[in-house]
Amino acid sequence: MAAGKLRVGVLASGQGSNLQALIDACADPSFPAEIVHVLSNVEGAYALERARRAGIPTALIRHREYSSREAFDAAVDACLREAGVEFVCLAGFMRLLSEGFVRGWDGRMINIHPSLLPSFKGLHTHAQALQAGVKVHGCTVHFVRPALDDGPVLAQAAVPVLPGDSADLLAARVLEQEHRIYPLALRLIAEGRAVVDGDVVRIDAPHAGQALVNPVAP
Ligand code: GRF
Repeated sequence: MAAGKLRVGVLASGQGSNLQALIDACADPSFPAEIVHVLSNVEGAYALERARRAGIPTALIRHREYSSREAFDAAVDACLREAGVEFVCLAGFMRLLSEGFVRGWDGRMINIHPSLLPSFKGLHTHAQALQAGVKVHGCTVHFVRPALDDGPVLAQAAVPVLPGDSADLLAARVLEQEHRIYPLALRLIAEGRAVVDGDVVRIDAPHAGQALVNPVAP
């Protein structure tokens, strides 16, 4: 374990493709962060398998075994702190987090959401985008605040909405960009180049557009 790297914990409930993007980024010795723990609330989540394959310690904390959201969150919090986690990445973690937990990691927890926030919060974001008829859709990495899918925006990537798109087609196009911006966002943080200033994130980077990824339209 290289000294001086930001110690990251990842929370994931599902397939973990964003976790994989972070694992792959961290495999570069020059990447300024390392994943020290992966935690899931879902037994059999493929994210746990990905972590094991990468040699990262894992934990399974089943939310159903806790009497309240706060009790579950306290167990997650204890696990992260025991592992020496300094920064948390939510990567498809399908649990609402209590206000106390979020406050405890204020400024030290980010999430990836499959829409250009503040548009299309919650679930089924691609269907929401199609329903709204937007021509540009995308994904967002943001700092986590207590309200759902709220918090200062750190990085975004845009994709075109094409004629004939289904929610699945759009999801696949967006997911590809998620895998680009999550490592980028984590790098900006770990290098101290992304600083929360009230409700916005100030990016100190050579190119102002570094936090916006715009793929070329096909
Ligand atoms: C992603 O679309 C992410 O934006 C959302 O949940 C999905 C997780 O996918 N929060 P994966 O488990 O990272 O593949």
